[in-house]
This record gives sequence, structure tokens and C-alpha cells, in this order.
Amino acid sequence: MLEIRTAGDPVLKAVCAPVQKIDKRLRKLLDEMAETMYATDGVGIAAPQVGVSIRAVVVDVDKKTRYDMINPVIVEREGSAIDVEGCLSCPDLFGDVERAAKVRVEYISRFGKKKTLDAEGLLARCIQHEIDHLDGRLFIDIAKNITKGKPQRAKE
Ligand code: CO
Repeated sequence: MLEIRTAGDPVLKAVCAPVQKIDKRLRKLLDEMAETMYATDGVGIAAPQVGVSIRAVVVDVDKKTRYDMINPVIVEREGSAIDVEGCLSCPDLFGDVERAAKVRVEYISRFGKKKTLDAEGLLARCIQHEIDHLDGRLFIDIAKNITKGKPQRAKE
């Protein structure tokens, strides 16, 4: 398991560089990020959270469908939704974040294939949260009603 960087660490404030080369080393990092995410019961993790300032994220909101996204870009957004979020890099903090309800994201797969994904619900929220990490933005920078510990109204 990789060490998770927490708020205050400058790597979380940096704008990450695009991935230039998709190789075994990158796939190993993605696998280690995924292991770390599952071990901490997260639904998404971004490379800067493990101290690597590159545009790569891993998302799995149902523990069945894992997406490894390299250089992800949101190309369409629709609607808006507010829900409670937390973050592995902000232990024990929760807050309401307004996000697009639906997004279309383009990214490169771990094997270098160009992909397009239409997402809604928790998956859409998680993708937006992780891409924010790649731009040095934490959910606590944009959340409202931040609480220590899970608020009663949180769904999970
Ligand atoms: Co996060």
C-alpha cells in the first residue's frame, strides 16, 4: 500500500503533468493506487494523492468496475447535483459539493486506447472529484457545510 498524502502537502496543490508514456511502470503505479484505494475503502484515487504529479486516476464506485483513466478530460457536463463527499487526503472531513449531474469524459486506458465514458450519479461525482485533484483542487476548497466526522444525513 502506498502512503496517502494529506491536505497541506504541496503535491496536492500542484497542477499535474500529462502522462507522456504508457508503460509497465505506469500500470504498476495504477495497480498500487487501486490497491491503496480498496484498502482504505475509497471509491477513487488520483496520482498526486500518492505523491506522483501526473494526470492519472483510478475510480471504482461499485467494487466491480474499475476505471484507470490517463489524461482524463471532461468534454461535456449536464445538470447539477449536491451531495456529501469525503477524501482520503482529508481524513474525517465531509462536506456538500455541487457537481455536474452527468459528464462525458475522454481518457486513455492503461493500454493506450482512447476511451469515452458517459457517467452519472456517484461515478460522475467521483470522476469530477478525482480530476479536480489533477488540477490541485481539493473538495474542501469548494465544499459547503464541512463537518468533522460523517454528517447524519450522509448516505454512506
Ligand atoms: Co479526493
